[in-house]
Amino acid sequence: MRKIIEKEFALNYLNKYGSQMTVGNGYLGVRGALEEEYPEQVRGMYVAGIYNRPSGSMSSELVNLPDVTRFQVTLDGEVFSMQAGKVHTYERFLDMDTGELVRKITWESSAGKKYQLNFHRFVSKAVKHIIAAKVEITPLSDDMKVKVKTGIDAQQTNFGTQQLAESGLRIFDEELMVGEYETIESKQRITVATKVNEKGIFTAKNRQLMTEVEQEVAVNEVFVLEKISVVKTSLDEVDAEFPKASYAELKSASETMWTDFWEHAGVRVESTDDFDQFALDFACYHLEIMTPKDDFRCSVGAKGLTGEGYKGHVFWDTEIFIMPFFLYNQPGIAKQLLQYRYLHLKEAKEKAVKNGYNGALYPWESAFSGEEETPEFAAINIRTGTRQKVASAISEHHLVADIAYAVCEYEAATGDAQFMADCGAELLLETAEFWMSRATKRNGRLEILDVIGPDEYTEHIDNNTYTNYMAHYNVKKALEWNKDNESFTVRAEKFLNNLYLPVTNEAGLIPQDDTFLQKDWINLDKYKAAQGTQGILLDYSRQEVNELQILKQADLVMLFYLFPKMFAPEIVKKNLDYYEKRTIHDSSLSKAIHAIVENQTGNRAQAYQFFQEACLIDLGSEPHSSDDGLHAASLGAIWLAVVFGFAGIDTSGELLEIAPNLPDAWQFVAFEFVWKGETILVDIAANRLQLSKNTKSVLELVIYGEKQQLTDTLTINLEQKDVSL
Ligand code: BGC
Repeated sequence: MRKIIEKEFALNYLNKYGSQMTVGNGYLGVRGALEEEYPEQVRGMYVAGIYNRPSGSMSSELVNLPDVTRFQVTLDGEVFSMQAGKVHTYERFLDMDTGELVRKITWESSAGKKYQLNFHRFVSKAVKHIIAAKVEITPLSDDMKVKVKTGIDAQQTNFGTQQLAESGLRIFDEELMVGEYETIESKQRITVATKVNEKGIFTAKNRQLMTEVEQEVAVNEVFVLEKISVVKTSLDEVDAEFPKASYAELKSASETMWTDFWEHAGVRVESTDDFDQFALDFACYHLEIMTPKDDFRCSVGAKGLTGEGYKGHVFWDTEIFIMPFFLYNQPGIAKQLLQYRYLHLKEAKEKAVKNGYNGALYPWESAFSGEEETPEFAAINIRTGTRQKVASAISEHHLVADIAYAVCEYEAATGDAQFMADCGAELLLETAEFWMSRATKRNGRLEILDVIGPDEYTEHIDNNTYTNYMAHYNVKKALEWNKDNESFTVRAEKFLNNLYLPVTNEAGLIPQDDTFLQKDWINLDKYKAAQGTQGILLDYSRQEVNELQILKQADLVMLFYLFPKMFAPEIVKKNLDYYEKRTIHDSSLSKAIHAIVENQTGNRAQAYQFFQEACLIDLGSEPHSSDDGLHAASLGAIWLAVVFGFAGIDTSGELLEIAPNLPDAWQFVAFEFVWKGETILVDIAANRLQLSKNTKSVLELVIYGEKQQLTDTLTINLEQKDVSL
């Protein structure tokens, strides 16, 4: 059973569990807020692509839509709340096998009466518009009078910002409540329809359309209230029908889809630590519910659909950290994520022109319109009243090449020539044009000046190694796919021959940028111990941090991960050790990537430790670390760490390569991997590697450096091969 379990109710963890226990399907995300109200509890329902730009703001926000999850329960005149009376038993879990959130409580009211309350909820995986809920209440000590008030609550805001105008409220056939809303600036229409299976009294007041059901229930009898809701928006092309089915029927249809998902996309691990399997299930479940399935106008926000952090914006997180999970499982969805970028080539070209460049400069943060959405200023300094400018929109340009990289990764895995002809080649060309205009002639070569690399603690630097290599790769690939474009090929070749690609110095170190190695170093133990909190910024100003050898996250190490064959293993090891000592891992994008590269250099113990620490980013015990949503890229990277780290898959050559190197704690790992249209079941034990597929075609691949042929099943006996240097 795959379950996220909350054993006891604690106000302090309300919003963390609210994020973790989100139910959804990639179209809809509904936070795991409790049915009754508590102080500070953030309720949230989000639809992919529904953003609004509040007046006076530079950026759009993923809109927190009218709520259907709240139930006010009054039992014999007392409003049910776990802050009153006494909780005798408590259990809440999200069943990831079925996508259902369940809570069971035995509660004693202040008047000394006992009740059993069970709450159920899910978002359908079969029909993306449907949210279903069920409340069961049993009086345990006496007959009861129960009142349940629920409906559509449009008092929801994004932390106080109201994004919606209420445009219509109706009751149909004395049962169906319908609320119609429009986002204030983006003018998207949202319809929420809901119905409960018992007659009640309707009210419409203060942006709340409600029904109140009242009943007398005999002791030990069960009162059941089912509530089915449908959400649709002006982005939907087809009309959503209101379902006639019951909670159980809807659940069974959705459950079938979940079973199918787990059969193909899950990763099975046998470890001495059960946490590993749990963390992987958690990652796969959330990756699945954060990603749109049939709409390339939407992509994945940095918190998925679990909260309002980063305003729901799309970063490089999607292409580099999240997309591979789909590419090697459900390649059609990876394609759709790339189509989202292709759709916004126009806006990327406009941004390039605006900034004085050619080609396509994608926005650092993107939403529905494809325009730059990065907030202009960071949080206000309340002592001085000033705000620091956010430099990412102006100079964090590696994203352009990250998108190009993802296009090439997609092509390599699928061989989808049609996609390349329709979108891929052009996207590569336009992104390459950007780099060619972005470089500056200096020191007799081409240099890329004033950028921010992946490490955001180092700003405005020249020749960030990651950026330069990625730009080089981008142009090289564009050349391969645009050979007939003569005016481009001549310029591209010149660029490739002249672009400065930093190499190792006498000490064997590759500089992160032109000045990094000359900066002072400080001991970071204190900050590493509190990683993820950005505590360094409390002791040092951003300018001071910029002048020290301090990394927020993997930078050069990202390059080692993306190009596993580019540098000699000794160089990777030396630089990994050097840069890790200087990396706080304050970004959630860091640890799992370090795990992969540590594993490549044979440091399995350290790799496993980093992997487990990466898993704790959303699953650790700190109460508030994921309040405003889960770290989507980190969840993707957990999967990457298993597949490209421990299982040792390498897709960077002509042939698929595999050289597993499992942690000591693992006896076994298995997953499906889709490559060139073939689904390969990868099954790795400490002393055996087995690859199998359902077709008879011959697939050439490289296993621990040796060419092999896979027809249906290939079994290789191994003593644990260690790649230590
Ligand atoms: C990281 C970026 C990342 C963003 C969104 C930032 O803290 O430094 O690399 O894209 O968060 O996850």
